[in-house]
Amino acid sequence: MATVWRFGTVLPPAPSVLDGPDYTQADPRWIGRALAASQAKPTGGWYVVDASRVIRDTPRRYRLLGQDWVVFRDAQGVVVGPDACPHMGASLSTGRCQGGQVVCPWHGLRLGRQRRASWVPVPAYDDGVLVWARFDEEGQEPTERPFLPERPTGGLAAVMRLEAACHPRDVVENRLDPWHGTHFHPHSFGTLHVLAQSDDDIVVRVAYRVLGPLAVEVDARFHTPDPRCITMTIVAGEGTGSVVETHATPLDDQRSAVVEATIATSERPGFQWAVRRLGWFIRPLVEARARRLWVEDAAYAERRLALREQGFADLPLGRG
Ligand code: FES
Ligand SMILES: [Fe+2]
Repeated sequence: MATVWRFGTVLPPAPSVLDGPDYTQADPRWIGRALAASQAKPTGGWYVVDASRVIRDTPRRYRLLGQDWVVFRDAQGVVVGPDACPHMGASLSTGRCQGGQVVCPWHGLRLGRQRRASWVPVPAYDDGVLVWARFDEEGQEPTERPFLPERPTGGLAAVMRLEAACHPRDVVENRLDPWHGTHFHPHSFGTLHVLAQSDDDIVVRVAYRVLGPLAVEVDARFHTPDPRCITMTIVAGEGTGSVVETHATPLDDQRSAVVEATIATSERPGFQWAVRRLGWFIRPLVEARARRLWVEDAAYAERRLALREQGFADLPLGRG
């Protein structure tokens, strides 16, 4: 195993609750149960669109649930409507915004929060880090707001978005397998062992590489607040309270957007100062790190979908 030099907060020794090689600890039966538990949770019909800070008074197009939508900001918040003008179907995302409305590029029709023929905006919500849209979802009672995971206040928020040829469940499943980290992303993870495991969450102690062999050791809890989200919360060690929220939104039957928000916090003196003064510099570094991991994890998730479609059965080497 490659060298790991730990620095920062030293955690008291804690035993592993599992033994054996990672390919037996990463038991597909446990992953399957935890995934099934996540799929049974309510969503209120909410889907993550993108980072709040990229939604401005310029129309942007997003594919969501097999349709194109135009997303922009007005004085009251975010507007999400069909990306087809109700007059003759022009793509509104190729237009511009004026006075809180999108102006159709073909004949100048202005559209905002008011319905107009086939222009029917859907409920949207900006939680300050992410923008969400609500759609009718079978078996889901619509809620006023999305169910937000617990977040630290005053942290540094960085958001990464990429698209992958998989379903939201493949994204959640990938994170329910923390064991792949040291093997599949050796550039980021030094060591990992499991401290606690229930049918619905898992706590691991992981050495996260900051630079080469230099790593911080943290205890991280993976939990699924809803069927399209998995969170990793630092519960002990450097940055306790920081959270990484990985959301997956279906673009169509075969593709999903992965939108990952990292909300970092620290008790260390100077952290808040660094967020205020150096946030512009740190944020892109955090996003680049998350993207690097997700480029690899997208390949993992895409392969899991391809295997499922081929009828491949997992090898139950673990303890069940
Ligand atoms: S197509 Fe939009 S105003 Fe005519
Ligand atoms: Fe991964």
